[in-house]
Amino acid sequence: MLDLFADTPPWQEPLAPGAVILRRRALADMDSLMAGIRDVSAQSPFRRMITPGGYTMSVAMTNCGNVGWTTDRHGYLYAGIDPQTQKPWPDMPEVFLVLAQVCALEAGYVDFRPDACLVNRYAPGAKLSLHQDKDEQTLSAPIVSVSLGLPAVFQFGGLKRNDPLQRVLLEHGDVVVWGGESRLFYHGIQPLKEGQHPVTGAFRYNLTFRHT
Ligand code: SIN
Ligand code: FE2
Repeated sequence: MLDLFADTPPWQEPLAPGAVILRRRALADMDSLMAGIRDVSAQSPFRRMITPGGYTMSVAMTNCGNVGWTTDRHGYLYAGIDPQTQKPWPDMPEVFLVLAQVCALEAGYVDFRPDACLVNRYAPGAKLSLHQDKDEQTLSAPIVSVSLGLPAVFQFGGLKRNDPLQRVLLEHGDVVVWGGESRLFYHGIQPLKEGQHPVTGAFRYNLTFRHT
């Protein structure tokens, strides 16, 4: 039967085994999410990290939670202290935590307890090359990723770097959850197009929740 309400937000789109897009799922929390980003970045400012290979990343990043994803000369790691401020990362705002847990549950992952939230800020031209999220010890927990502001093309592949890629546009309020069979699938963000968004201005933000 034709479902006339299938495109009333939020709605779900399967992406891969274990992976789903919860379209517009974060829209209702947008004001408090933006306030959370402001609060977190006032304590641990956005910075462009340097990869172990010496490249400055185009995406500006910060973190909240018990640990934060960062780089040093030797590699990528989760650290309890922000290397820039030499203080613990800001607490994860309650609204972040609850949204991540509810989204994980809706995607079929019970009892998700993220201890890290990476906050990404994309300016026009910023991109994230294909990578796997594999710096976490708990691969049984999914990744929950929340998009805010300007749209971006998300690439989602497979376990091998050269597996075919799906390309999906992630828009304001979209949430992607991947785990299980697709937990280690390669993914990335194509260079952000210029634009102006009523909520985020010239930027796209992304919150990525992990249980490390
Ligand atoms: C990530 O892979 O950590 C972020 C993906 C995104 O910005 O949507
Ligand atoms: Fe990632």
